[in-house]
Amino acid sequence: MSMKVSITTLPLAELDVDLLIIPVSEGHAGARLTSLATELGPAVTRAADDFKGKSDDALMIYPEESHARRLGLVGMGSESKIDVDVVRCVAARGESLARACKAETVAIVHPDLGLDPESVSQALVEGYMLASYRFLRYKTEGDGYTGADRLVLHVADQEKGSRRGVERGRIVAEAVMTARDLVNTSPDEKTATAFARSIEKLGKKHGFTTSIWDKQLIEEEGMRGLLAVNRGSQEPPTFTILEWTPENASNEWPIVLVGKGIVFDTGGLSLKPTKDSMDHMKADMAGAAAVVGAMEAIARLELPINVIGLIPATDNRPGENAYVPGDVIKMHSGKTVEVLNTDAEGRLVLADALSYAKTYRPALVIDLATLTGAQVVALGSEVAAVMTNDRPGAGERLDAIESAGRRSGDLVHRMPMFEHYGKQIESDVADIKNVGGREAGTITAGKFLEHFVDYPWIHVDLAGPSYITSDKPYRAKGGTGFGVRLLVEFLREFADPRRK
Ligand code: BES
Ligand code: MN
Ligand code: ZN
Repeated sequence: MSMKVSITTLPLAELDVDLLIIPVSEGHAGARLTSLATELGPAVTRAADDFKGKSDDALMIYPEESHARRLGLVGMGSESKIDVDVVRCVAARGESLARACKAETVAIVHPDLGLDPESVSQALVEGYMLASYRFLRYKTEGDGYTGADRLVLHVADQEKGSRRGVERGRIVAEAVMTARDLVNTSPDEKTATAFARSIEKLGKKHGFTTSIWDKQLIEEEGMRGLLAVNRGSQEPPTFTILEWTPENASNEWPIVLVGKGIVFDTGGLSLKPTKDSMDHMKADMAGAAAVVGAMEAIARLELPINVIGLIPATDNRPGENAYVPGDVIKMHSGKTVEVLNTDAEGRLVLADALSYAKTYRPALVIDLATLTGAQVVALGSEVAAVMTNDRPGAGERLDAIESAGRRSGDLVHRMPMFEHYGKQIESDVADIKNVGGREAGTITAGKFLEHFVDYPWIHVDLAGPSYITSDKPYRAKGGTGFGVRLLVEFLREFADPRRK
C-alpha cells in the first residue's frame, strides 16, 4: 500500500483534505498568519498568540472558512538556519499531526525559502513519507492508522522544478523504505538465499538486472573469504550482482557499489554477547540493503550512468565446521589473511567482493558496511565514517561524498588513513591479520580493505546510523535505510556535475 503524491496550485481554501500542513518560520510568524487568515479565516489569526514558528512549535487549528478540516501550523525556526534537512524535519512534524488525527488526505504548503524549489519539494515529500514509515509486517493487530494515503504539495505556480522534486522525493523515499524493510525483516526469513531472491524480485520490479551466484560458483571463483565466514552456517552463501547499464550512460567504466550482506552476525566462535550486541545483528546486511535501495532509485530515476552492485551474503555462525581463530585464508585476491577473531567477518566477505570488482575496471568503487562497533563510538548514530585510498582525487572524493551527505541528510565524516594505522594488522604468519588492536578500530578495518583495492575507492562504515534504538525525526527506530539517499545524491552529482 503506497502513498499517492501529487501537486496542486488551487487556492488554499479549496484544498479538500483532512489536514493542511503550513510551515511557518520564526520571526515573521505574526505577519504570515495574518496573511493566511485572509484566505483561511480568522481562526488562523487567533492562533498567533500560541504559535511563534519556533522549530519545535506545532499547532492544530480548526478553520471555519476552508475546505480543509484541520490546519497544522508547524514551526521552521529562524530563517537563517533553514536548510533541506530542516524542511524534512518540518514535514515529519506535520506527519505526526496527521497521525494524531488519523488524517487520510494531507496537503503541505511549499514554503518560499529562497532555497531551490525543486530540492525543497523533494525534501518535503521525503520527510513526510519517511516519517510515516512503520514496519508492520509482523503485527497482527495495530491501531488502525497506517499513514495517509494521499499527499498533495501546494505550490504557488506550476513550476516544473517542483513537479520533478515531488517525483524524485517519492522515488527516493520508497527506495529508503525498501532498504528499511530488508533490514527489519526477521533473520529466520533472511537466509543468504532468501535475501538474494528478494533482491532479484526488486530488480524485476524496478528495472535493474540481477544474477545470483550459488555456493558452487562462489567456490569456482575462489571467494575464500566469503566461504570461510560461511563455514559455520547451515545455509549456503550467495553473491549477487546487480546491474544498471542504460544505453545513454555517460561513463564507460562503471561505478561499483559493494554492500556487506551478513544476514546475521553471531560473531561466530568469537561469539557476541546478546544484549545490545547480537540482538541487533539482523541489521548486519544494512550496507547491502543500502546498495539495493540505491539501485532501485537510480533505475526508477533512470540516471544516465553505468552502476554495478555486488552483494556477498552469508550468516556468521559458530556451527560445527566454523572457521576458527588461527585459520589462514587465501583470499580471492591471492593475499593471505590470518583470522584472529571470527567476529571480524565483514572485512573478509567485503575483501573478496572488492577484489572481484577489479574485473569491471571501475571508475570508482564505494563499499557500505556495518563494519565496526568503534564507528558508533567515534561518530554516534547519526553520522557514518568515510575513508578513501591515497590516490589521485582522494580529497575531491571525500569532499563529494561529504557534500552528498549534507544534501541528502545521510551525514558522513572522513577518517584519516595514515600509513602507520596499517601496522596494527601486520600478521606473524600471513600477509595480514583480520583484527588490529584496541585503538582506531574503524580505521584499521578500512586499512584492511585497502589491501584489496587498486582503483579509486570510498569506504562507508555505517554501523551506527543504519540501525537505531530510539526514534529520530523521519527515522523510526529499527533499520533507517541510511546510505540510500547518500548514494543517490552522490550518483546524481556524478551523472551531472554541473547541476548545483
Ligand atoms: N557487525 C559488526 C559491527 C557492528 C557492531 C555493527 C555494532 C553494528 C553495531 C562486525 O562484524 C563486528 O563484529 N566487528 C567487530 C570487529 C572486531 C572484532 C575487530 C567489532 O566492531 O567489535
Ligand atoms: Mn562481526
Ligand atoms: Zn558483522
